[in-house]
Amino acid sequence: MEINELLKEFLELNGDSEEKIKLYFAPGRVNLIGEHTDYNGGYVLPFSLQYGTYLVARKATDPLVKFKSKNFPMLAQVCLQQRVKRIGNSWVNYPLGVIREFDAIKPLSDGLELLYYGDIPNEAGLSSSASIEMVTAYAINDLYNYSLPTLDLIKMSQKAENTFVGMNCGIMDQFAVGMGREDTAVFLNCNTLEYKHIPFNLSGYTIIIANTNKKRTLSGSKYNERRAQCVQAVKDISTNFAIPNLSVLSPEDFELHKSLIHDSVSRKRAQHIVSENQRVLDAIVCLKNGDLKNLGLLMTASHHSLRDLYEVSCNELDVLVEEALHIEGVLGSRMTGAGFGGCTISLVADSSVETFIELLGNRYLARTGLVADFYIGKSGKGAGSIDF
Ligand code: GLA
Repeated sequence: MEINELLKEFLELNGDSEEKIKLYFAPGRVNLIGEHTDYNGGYVLPFSLQYGTYLVARKATDPLVKFKSKNFPMLAQVCLQQRVKRIGNSWVNYPLGVIREFDAIKPLSDGLELLYYGDIPNEAGLSSSASIEMVTAYAINDLYNYSLPTLDLIKMSQKAENTFVGMNCGIMDQFAVGMGREDTAVFLNCNTLEYKHIPFNLSGYTIIIANTNKKRTLSGSKYNERRAQCVQAVKDISTNFAIPNLSVLSPEDFELHKSLIHDSVSRKRAQHIVSENQRVLDAIVCLKNGDLKNLGLLMTASHHSLRDLYEVSCNELDVLVEEALHIEGVLGSRMTGAGFGGCTISLVADSSVETFIELLGNRYLARTGLVADFYIGKSGKGAGSIDF
């Protein structure tokens, strides 16, 4: 979509005004490795994509916030003098939740005119929701000259999703969207929020994202169930060995104390978390050393752990990974994001990318009856404004 077209549509919708029109962008993200570790105080290694959500925004002279998205049919309008309330299951709840967070610390004095356009698929586990939240937070912070640091915007967006939208996510998505940088992945310690940009040099290889296009069902409730099982594992271990979260356990600690976890299911969940944290650390060493072969093996091991121990994969994700690994030039493959549908990422030799997309698409269709979509997983900028 052309930026000029978006600006033209904004003016057609909202007319002229003395206030300045501004343009913002926040990316989606994929997680290279470190899955379901964020809400366990662990390590993650996501990167921001070049796809995301664009937002044309302008302060309004009345106390109304007008929302329109080119991706969804609904046009919504809320009055700032009234308490912000949820609107069914609409996408508008993401920006509304962010506005409610601003209300708590820096209420908006004037309204806003907002036009969104996203070029990442929704419901695909590529964080379209975090990108809508972050682009809104970034725009309000900028238009109102609030000068809040990006970390505050990240926390406010996560809180909006937890308390307003009702999805009890960790901080990884909003963090990657806010702090992403071109050609790097974000290595984040979700316990301390210390982070580092890790150069993402895949010399001769590309990350290919494959979308299962499987509708995710029950993902919210299963996600919360996994969280609860991890909390239970922490409680059980703490009866004899006090720990704040599973991520403080080294693989050796886990072996020593795992029998304290009563329930075998919670034990499997904990084992995934402990081993996944170690895989993130190992993956960073591989990236630093340009050891893509072992990086690929770690990705595949992560998938197997998510499939067998954390049990958040599904047939469609497993088929994509299994078939990807049979294709020449593929070093590794795994599901990315929460699971139960969404996308896989594969590390593919540049020279094999075309064949990979064709073969994997055909084999996936033959085995599942679904058409997969493919995207190049190149890392792009984090949330920010765009000059035009
Ligand atoms: C979703 C959540 C994240 C994270 C991942 C799993 O994307 O929003 O916080 O927990 O699942 O790694």
